Amino acid sequence: MTDLTDITGPAHQADPVAFPQDRTCPYHPPTGYQPLRDGRSLSRVTLFDGREVWAVTAHATARALLSDPRLSSDRRHPDFPVPAARFAAVRDRGVALLGEDDPEHNRQRRMMIPSFTVKRATELRPWIQRTVDGLLDTMIAQGAPADLVSAFALPVPSMVICGLLGVPYTDHEFFEEQSRRLLRGRTAAEATDARERLDAYLSGLIDDKARQAEPGDGILDELVHHQLRDGSVSHAELVSLALILLVAGHETTANMISLGTYTLLQHPDRLAELRADPALLPAAVEELMRMLSIAEGMQRVALEDIEIAGTTIRAGEGVLFSTSVINRDPTRYEAPDTLDFHRSARHHVAFGFGIHQCLGQNLARAELEIALGSLLARLPRLRLAIPADEVRFKRGDTIQGMLELPVTW
Ligand code: HEM
Repeated sequence: MTDLTDITGPAHQADPVAFPQDRTCPYHPPTGYQPLRDGRSLSRVTLFDGREVWAVTAHATARALLSDPRLSSDRRHPDFPVPAARFAAVRDRGVALLGEDDPEHNRQRRMMIPSFTVKRATELRPWIQRTVDGLLDTMIAQGAPADLVSAFALPVPSMVICGLLGVPYTDHEFFEEQSRRLLRGRTAAEATDARERLDAYLSGLIDDKARQAEPGDGILDELVHHQLRDGSVSHAELVSLALILLVAGHETTANMISLGTYTLLQHPDRLAELRADPALLPAAVEELMRMLSIAEGMQRVALEDIEIAGTTIRAGEGVLFSTSVINRDPTRYEAPDTLDFHRSARHHVAFGFGIHQCLGQNLARAELEIALGSLLARLPRLRLAIPADEVRFKRGDTIQGMLELPVTW
């Protein structure tokens, strides 16, 4: 695996580096980002289409800019930075929450908050535990080796978000495949087709729910029978909200479970420490979130000129947040490339910051603690079934994670 301390970069950035890039080691920032780690707060980077935008790389600057209303999340803005060709194809349709600015964003977020509080996540823990136990029972009964991604890391969050939203899990193959094509498809046409299929599926589901006399117990049932009926949300908006919750709710957490497990297996001392003291789990999850920074490159466009950290971001310029570099800012985290469960990893920006800070973060933390904790407890001899450098992981222009994780025990 790559030892980041061996890499020496230029003291000053000569040319803008390409962004995003593939990671060399799945839990470290790409080696090509070394020029972004030279101590400056903002650097110029080049996107796939040759456009130059700003990359924010310092922790304090990131938090200031992520709370600055002069930066917009509206994907329909003509200057909004697009990190890969396939995203250009779906931007006309807009994205609820994530792609809205206030006051629209605030209205949508307030509708959702009661379902995603710390209290609600705590109430859900026994049900999440039963879901995790059931999946581990099946995987263990089928015998080693197993692909941890398909047997465990993906079904855990997929079942949980289905149950929460009121989406039938029997349709999981369909929406997992379309999410994959939307987020990781090779072409713009593939992403557009996936978005259309998901929209049509969720629209049909919402119509079915609207025809039922009594609401079921999912979040979508509630929204259909109250907010849709009283006109505080439109049908199209509800489809868009359902889409973001369904896609964001399973892809991200699945990647954290798979990549988190891989990272622990590559750090045997930390793994042994965690097995010996399961009370470290919440701190370990937070530190893994910081270190893995799977949601790389949050995007914004400047609506006005912004003076920050000795730089002027001009109106119309694109701004990306290099989460993996920000979360390793040495002025914020000592020995930032080291996995350390005893540091205070809090205040990392792996869940974002400001008005768009991850709505599902309490749920995600509960899922990660239960999934990783139960996996380690049930399989004391868990290990990779193939050499570590043969494990296939995801490209840099998407949420980071493993494509497969062959394990034995
Ligand atoms: C470990 C797993 C997860 C990670 C790393 C993650 C990461 C993020 C990040 C970085 C953002 C901010 C994006 C931005 O500012 O542009 C975000 C927003 C969001 N996340 Fe998550 N997320 C995770 C799990 C979840 C789950 C389980 C849900 C389920 C509901 C969810 C739903 C959302 C939504 C709806 C937003 C948009 C919030 C808004 O704009 O107000 N996420 N997430």
